[in-house]
Amino acid sequence: MTITLSIIYLIASITFIFGLKMLGHPETAKKGNLIAGSGMGLAIVGTIFLNNSHVPTFVYGLILAAIAIGSIIGWLIAVKVEMTKMPELVSLFNGFGGASATIIGLVEFSKNIGDVMQTTTTMAAIIIGSITFSGSIIAWAKLNGTMNGLIRLPKYNLINNLVILGLIVFGAYMVWTGSDSQILLYALLLGALIYGVLFVIPIGGADMPVVISLLNSLTGIAAAITGILYTNMVMLVGGILVGSAGLILTVAMCKAMNRSLTSVIFGAFGGGDAVASGTKSELGEIKSSTASDVAILMNYSQRVIFVPGYGLAVAQAQHAIHELEQLLESKGVEVKYAIHPVAGRMPGHMNVLLAESNVDYDKLAEMDDVNPEFKNTDVVFVVGANDVVNPAAHNDPSSPIYGMPILEVADAKQIIVNKRTMNPGYAGIENELFYNQKTAMLFGDAKKTIQALISEIKNM
Ligand code: TAP
Repeated sequence: MTITLSIIYLIASITFIFGLKMLGHPETAKKGNLIAGSGMGLAIVGTIFLNNSHVPTFVYGLILAAIAIGSIIGWLIAVKVEMTKMPELVSLFNGFGGASATIIGLVEFSKNIGDVMQTTTTMAAIIIGSITFSGSIIAWAKLNGTMNGLIRLPKYNLINNLVILGLIVFGAYMVWTGSDSQILLYALLLGALIYGVLFVIPIGGADMPVVISLLNSLTGIAAAITGILYTNMVMLVGGILVGSAGLILTVAMCKAMNRSLTSVIFGAFGGGDAVASGTKSELGEIKSSTASDVAILMNYSQRVIFVPGYGLAVAQAQHAIHELEQLLESKGVEVKYAIHPVAGRMPGHMNVLLAESNVDYDKLAEMDDVNPEFKNTDVVFVVGANDVVNPAAHNDPSSPIYGMPILEVADAKQIIVNKRTMNPGYAGIENELFYNQKTAMLFGDAKKTIQALISEIKNM
């Protein structure tokens, strides 16, 4: 490796670290992404043109063609994808990362026979890469509805543990014996692919994002392993960053849902087979309201808190809600947004959505900070949110969301809930908040309803 290439790798590694840090805040995230992306671009160009190996010219052509095709496909997918489909896309990208590590492992296998360190790394790349690939494809199929429900073999935990143990022993055997058998190699590959499927099929519902984050972390580990294989520092650093960031996110999501990682992997939650935590007759009557009544209520309030949820993203009502916020503020009403960590369908979904419409970041309040404020709030406006404000999380030990921290909107003086119907949210359960004496339902699509509120307030 030339000294110039080493310097390029160092610069690229620094851009990854700074980029990742900047991704932690909506105001700097875009720039952070650009910086880390430029670092990656620089590292790729450097690797292609500054390496010491003598590569025939046509290979350069192949590499550049592959980069061009991949970039165009990636760009097209990224500009077209709807925000609500982002977890599926992340899942596919994880799968491709895993597949790359597997392919590298397969290509390098025969070159490294006899070198214990290198073959161990190759085996690890093949096993982890394949698990990530097949697991991510199953996660993608579950998220887009191609595959439904939780598929559980009898004693699936025991089977899964035996399979992974078997894979480790198999890989160790190949290293130990210095085997060059292609049959054994592809048997190992098949076993790892099967394990990836077995690992994800029993998991479902609200646990899926946690699994995707975990698979993302595995992609990073697979990339780091290939970095070791090629003694390539920038691959190693990038892989370690993705691996550790994915793991931290996994743990943070489990915490927000009050779940342990082991119960996500070995337990059941959500996925549409959840039970209702009460019947309509037990819960009482619902009250519905009109846009003009709610407009009057908000207009004459001092403090209003908006609680956005998945429905706001579905309705693409982020610009409308920002306009409502500005209108109310111009009338002297103090407005804030209460953000639940798992509102929507991906980590930071509400933050990203509201940043898109330039909502001032200081107006977004996190759950722990905003919960004590609800009691001094005149009106809480719940827009397309359901599970994240469901008191069953406190009151009903049989509920699948029992124990999940929620936004305590019932403490406010008045609660307005906007959704289209009385259908449940993601966890598939009734919400007793809708039957609360202080709650009024404002039925309709979020965007249209908010636009109606805006025109009512403007006419006052
Ligand atoms: P949900 O509980 O899923 O409720 C969303 C509500 O939005 C639904 O009840 C739906 O009712 C309403 N809605 C849908 N389209 C609408 C529209 N066009 N206009 C107005 N309302 C609309 O959402 P939440 O409160 O944000 O909770 C998120 C849930 O997803 C949690 O259970 C969480 O664990 C889970 N989850 C989160 C993540 C992450 S990481 N954020 C990932 C996957 C799953 P109608 O159909 O009656 O309109």
